[in-house]
Amino acid sequence: MPATVILGAQWGDEGKGKAIDQLSANSTWAVRFQGGNNAGHTVVYGDTTLKLHQIPSGVSALHCSMILGDGMVIDPWVLEEELDRWHKISGERPEGKRLFISERASIILPFHKLYDSADKVVGTTGRGIGPAYRDRIERVGIRFGDIVNIVDDVDYLRNNAERMNRQLNSVGVDSEIEWEKLQKDLRWILERYGDSIKSTGLMIDFALKNGENVLLEGAQGAMLDIDQGTYPFVTSSVTCRANATHGAGIHPGHVEECFGITKAYTTRVGNGPFPSELSLEEGAGMHMAKIGNEFGTTTGRPRRTGWLDIVALKESNRLNGYTGLVLTKLDVLGGLDEIKICIGYEMEGKLLQIMPTTSKELAKCDPIYETHKGFEAMTESEWIEMANESRNNNIGFGALNEDMLNYVRRIEKLAGIPIVSIGVGPDRDASIASVGGPFDISNNKEMF
Ligand code: GDP
Ligand code: IMO
Ligand code: MG
Repeated sequence: MPATVILGAQWGDEGKGKAIDQLSANSTWAVRFQGGNNAGHTVVYGDTTLKLHQIPSGVSALHCSMILGDGMVIDPWVLEEELDRWHKISGERPEGKRLFISERASIILPFHKLYDSADKVVGTTGRGIGPAYRDRIERVGIRFGDIVNIVDDVDYLRNNAERMNRQLNSVGVDSEIEWEKLQKDLRWILERYGDSIKSTGLMIDFALKNGENVLLEGAQGAMLDIDQGTYPFVTSSVTCRANATHGAGIHPGHVEECFGITKAYTTRVGNGPFPSELSLEEGAGMHMAKIGNEFGTTTGRPRRTGWLDIVALKESNRLNGYTGLVLTKLDVLGGLDEIKICIGYEMEGKLLQIMPTTSKELAKCDPIYETHKGFEAMTESEWIEMANESRNNNIGFGALNEDMLNYVRRIEKLAGIPIVSIGVGPDRDASIASVGGPFDISNNKEMF
């Protein structure tokens, strides 16, 4: 069986966690391949809400093994907190048993967070992501597999601490890294995670050859990609499909399906241009923020809101070639008289169908909208009822009313991607999927 890629199709927080959780029922591996704890992926079932930052969102499928892959940067202290939270909920300690850390993944150290705190431009999550990747690219970073070789090398540790201090000084951060503390930290990491650190690419390759289903879980979104996103207001890794296999340590030929996750509108956290942005203080923008509870899962910062941007979605499809689109949070739009879709931009009198390359130009773009009739607000349980009706009667999107369906079909047509599932609430069951399609959860195995 093949590998399946799940990616954010916008600026992050599209609902990747929920989609992975749904697919993990029929998979045996869930793999994170890039990013770190800048990600915040939410999984909701019944009264339980999991906020996952590094642990893959397949965690609640107890038959699923998990990998923190080669392309990641990992904060071992945050991972420990996450593992403790999971232990409280489930009684399980998956590390070393069904959760493994790649030898090639980079360690986020206290130095990286201190360095990240100097950011004044991007509005990063402050988790040390950019500085950890910078060290990797500069070939001075420490990877999990390196610890055994360097932990007693005092010259190496001294030199590394000195480099860190020079870098902190250069950006005006008043903090000292001591080599003894660095050594102590590395010893702790080895002790805590020694049994979990593996050559994980080999494990995934073996599983695929064995006919197993592997999920590759993206973090952030296409528009936050370091190469292809709205640079410099991006994250520091390749978030797109091309890196899904590379960052997992397998080849791209394994991938058969690649699902893009998009909200039925748009949000963005942090700085950077956002042509279809609305005000958070009034009207539809305020409605989306309030009903959609649009606060960052990692930092708690309010997310900026706006109408769905088809130009950005098409750009993201150019990069990722989605075989299907998951449209999330349709429920949030209930209660708006009209719903708009951004179908192009106007920049200095010119009409654009394609995103300009630079953020400076994108900031000059005004949205061109088409307007659709809205649909009424429904309660969370009414939406779940609609999702149940769709499953019980085998009618797929036929459960939606005409105005909802018109909006969904229009997005499908404009984006040129088949929609395979529609999110109508945070819960694992609050989805309306095409019958017999990949997100049809009616026959899912029991999950935690
Ligand atoms: P991720 O980073 O892509 O995994 O997304 P986040 O978890 O950061 O943010 C998505 C938020 O929307 C979470 O609070 C989810 O529980 C919630 N969510 C996901 N899908 C839906 C949906 O279809 N409707 C509603 N109302 N909430 C959803
Ligand atoms: P998930 O996986 C939304 C944003 C930050 C900032 C920029 C760079 O939950 O979708 P970084 O700390 O990565 O250097 O910050 O990227 N950002 C996200 N926005 N969801 C995320 O992850 C994000 N991860 C980073 O807000 O603008
Ligand atoms: Mg998130």
